[in-house]
Amino acid sequence: MNPLNHVAIIMDGNGRWGLKYKNSRNAGHRAGLNTVEKIIRETIKNKINFLTLFAFSTENWKRPRKEIDYLFNLLENFLIKRTEDLHKQNIKLKILGLKKFSPKLNKLLNISEKKTSKNTKLQINLALNYGSKSELINAFKKIKKDKAIISEKNLSKNLQTKNIPDPDLLIRTGNTKRLSNFLLWQLAYSEIFFEKKLWPAFNVKDYNKIIREYRSIKRNFGNI
Ligand code: IPE
Ligand code: IPE
Ligand code: MG
Repeated sequence: MNPLNHVAIIMDGNGRWGLKYKNSRNAGHRAGLNTVEKIIRETIKNKINFLTLFAFSTENWKRPRKEIDYLFNLLENFLIKRTEDLHKQNIKLKILGLKKFSPKLNKLLNISEKKTSKNTKLQINLALNYGSKSELINAFKKIKKDKAIISEKNLSKNLQTKNIPDPDLLIRTGNTKRLSNFLLWQLAYSEIFFEKKLWPAFNVKDYNKIIREYRSIKRNFGNI
């Protein structure tokens, strides 16, 4: 049975779900947040140590202002309401991506990260304004500046995911089979599951089914 230490999720399909059932993309984002809560609980039950959630990509700035504002407003409210509880549950929150948001959101993110920084049960990496290509470019720039050699070790250590093991399992919901500029380096050997269901419809049963399947895969890492 494969150990499972790190699950990464591309939470896709909120907009389509919202349009279909509530006639509004934003209603889908709100519903998606409920799925996030359920998946966090189940991740802890499964004794998984790292959960990385793709919440907003560097490319998502192309969306209408109204949708972007709604998303960040949801996030602000989540942080205000839930940080204390995350902390009580011994959960550590880390942001991957460039923290260039409104002063209010930047501050809330910093407070939540700082408050939970010593927690040990589960580390949640929230990928926000995250793009893998720019993360890689920045890592190469840092290596050059340090006059260090280009090696796998030096590259990994200059990524925002330094000290985080690579994901064992990637799940993308929303019936689309692409990576959308997510963790291109870190996913080199991850088991990838593309799920047809839209993120708000994805449930604990679906999650556990994928975990069970993952556990039974023969992972070779080049070996036989
Ligand atoms: C959520 O799904 C991902 C975010 C960028 C917040 P989408 O908003 O991309 O939903 P679809 O793919 O348009 O249905
Ligand atoms: C990927 O979803 C980003 C997040 C889930 C945050 P998108 O919906 O933005 O991806 P594309 O544009 O369809 O590839
Ligand atoms: Mg999408």
